[in-house]
Amino acid sequence: MSLTVLTVVGARPQFIKAAPVSHAFAAHGGIREILVHTGQHFDAAMSDVFFEELDIPPPAHNLEVNSLGHGAMTGRMLEKLEEVMIAEKPDWVLIYGDTNSTVAGALAAAKLHIPVAHVEAGLRSFNRRMPEEINRVMADHVSTLLFCPTQTAVANLKTEGITKGVHHVGDVMYDVTLAAVERGKGRSKILERNGLAPKTYAVATIHRAENTDDPQRFARVIQWLSDRGREMPVIMPVHPRTRKLMEKSGVNPTGVRLIDPLGYLDMAWLTHNASGVFTDSGGLQKEAYFHGVPCVTLRDETEWVETVEAGWNRLWTTAEYKPRRDITDYGSGDSSSKIASLIASSKT
Ligand code: UD1
Repeated sequence: MSLTVLTVVGARPQFIKAAPVSHAFAAHGGIREILVHTGQHFDAAMSDVFFEELDIPPPAHNLEVNSLGHGAMTGRMLEKLEEVMIAEKPDWVLIYGDTNSTVAGALAAAKLHIPVAHVEAGLRSFNRRMPEEINRVMADHVSTLLFCPTQTAVANLKTEGITKGVHHVGDVMYDVTLAAVERGKGRSKILERNGLAPKTYAVATIHRAENTDDPQRFARVIQWLSDRGREMPVIMPVHPRTRKLMEKSGVNPTGVRLIDPLGYLDMAWLTHNASGVFTDSGGLQKEAYFHGVPCVTLRDETEWVETVEAGWNRLWTTAEYKPRRDITDYGSGDSSSKIASLIASSKT
């Protein structure tokens, strides 16, 4: 008997995470996936390119909700997702990560009594001022299946009283990275286009509200990047939120090469060949580790604590890395197929 899974995606990192799981569903057989794009990210460079490069089937529904405040954005998504879920009657709703699209998908499904499966469950920064932290906590507390990328995530859920339906499956982003390096090798011309030699430069990305919304904080982050730019070449693909802010405030990093957002293969190849990564992105912190590149995280805490414990990552507020070791938590590139099997074998 075939099972129907309605997958909700909306923001760039969700397209990346959904790709290997979609492929695992197709390989598993017996699972029909209906992909719903909330529309949160809509620029070709923030959305379409990922569908093309990662071979994700076009979404069955695009709700075109974007560029609104948190309440309006989440509210409109909730309303439209509910309509789609009523029409499609899925057996499961699958959500990813911690964005407004995640929490809207979780709430719409839970209220319709459709079981929710959450990929990247259990992550906590313990900073409730981050919109992502609220989204994570809310999503986890209404989920039936909770797919944790790390043991720390499992422990975080236990602390909140969630033990049922919790599975440590590893990190689907590791699955994607393995495939991307192989494909990027032959195809990406990102180094040539930017005149960069391998292991001579750092990659930077900044987009989190906690860094961009307070002008003083934003100026500090930009100054920190400018200081690094004096020490080595730094290349920075700029997220639309950050681009808007730079234009509005006139605050730009000096000595840092600003480029447009990159597709997945170019970004993976750029990171793979970098000598360092400076970022406030959760995904890129781990990708740096997957590529064997040290990272400095421009935040005051991280959900990916094992990257810091294992000496591959440090917060910008600390000077030293810990001694380096491998991280086993993220699995061996088979997290997506574990997720497909667990969904297929779970009773709804
Ligand atoms: C969202 C997520 C964040 C995630 C990030 C990945 C929430 C609360 N935040 O943040 O957790 O790390 O995605 O990128 O859900 N914009 C464009 N074009 C686009 C996308 C966005 O111009 O394709 C503009 C929007 O109009 C808005 C700004 O960028 O002005 C921010 O976009 P938004 O979707 O609100 O959140 P992100 O900062 O991308």
